[in-house]
Amino acid sequence: MTRTTYYTATTLDGFIADPDDSLAWLLRQPQDEGGGPQSYDDFIKRIGALVMGSTTYEWVLAHLERTGEEWFYSQPSWVMTSRDLPVPGGADVRFASGPVTDVYDALRDAAGDLDIWVVGGGDLAGQFADAGLLDDVIVSVAPVTLGAGRPLLPRRLELRLVETAPNGAFVTARYEVDGPLLEDRAG
Ligand SMILES: NC(=O)c1ccc[n+]([C@@H]2O[C@H](COP(=O)([O-])OP(=O)(O)OC[C@H]3O[C@@H](n4cnc5c(N)ncnc54)[C@H](OP(=O)(O)O)[C@@H]3O)[C@@H](O)[C@H]2O)c1
Repeated sequence: MTRTTYYTATTLDGFIADPDDSLAWLLRQPQDEGGGPQSYDDFIKRIGALVMGSTTYEWVLAHLERTGEEWFYSQPSWVMTSRDLPVPGGADVRFASGPVTDVYDALRDAAGDLDIWVVGGGDLAGQFADAGLLDDVIVSVAPVTLGAGRPLLPRRLELRLVETAPNGAFVTARYEVDGPLLEDRAG
């Protein structure tokens, strides 16, 4: 069955980008050679569709512009936005806005037997959690604190630790989402 997974790197103090959307703190961190636990190469093989917010998308567009690289993803990619944004050549990018429940069926259909990746940001992952549609959170925790920035997952949730392992400079962990924080549940 298709699972919806928020897979991301984070600082130790729970930020996925600095206040200026820089990922320099992340990109310099060493990872295990040949993959290792929770590696991107293993993860992306299980993904059939992905969804991201527009800040993340614009970071990717700026990165492609800066480096001359091609669009990263072969999977259909949804971008949540209220704006008109460009699409790089060869990219299967679809725009949507409004409740994530409105795009979920299309994501699941596109994913087929594979999983859905919520790329970020944190609030978008939170929107899936709010709708009861977020199954897993996989984090790679970098040995960095920023004090401020874009939050990892600004919600009150219960999660279950399923696995953890070091990978290069990172501690990686996979959690299953249980639902709202126990204290917030009625009754
Ligand atoms: N550490 C990592 O591995 C990692 C992973 C992913 C992202 N990042 C970085 O983290 C930062 C994330 O930025 P962010 O927190 O601002 O989040 P974001 O989710 O990338 O972008 C937020 C924006 O997406 C649009 N949006 C979100 N939900 C929507 C909805 N339901 N309907 C319509 N539009 C919607 C809104 O903008 P508009 O409507 O104005 O377009 C909103 O302001 C970026 O810098 C990104 O590069 C890091």
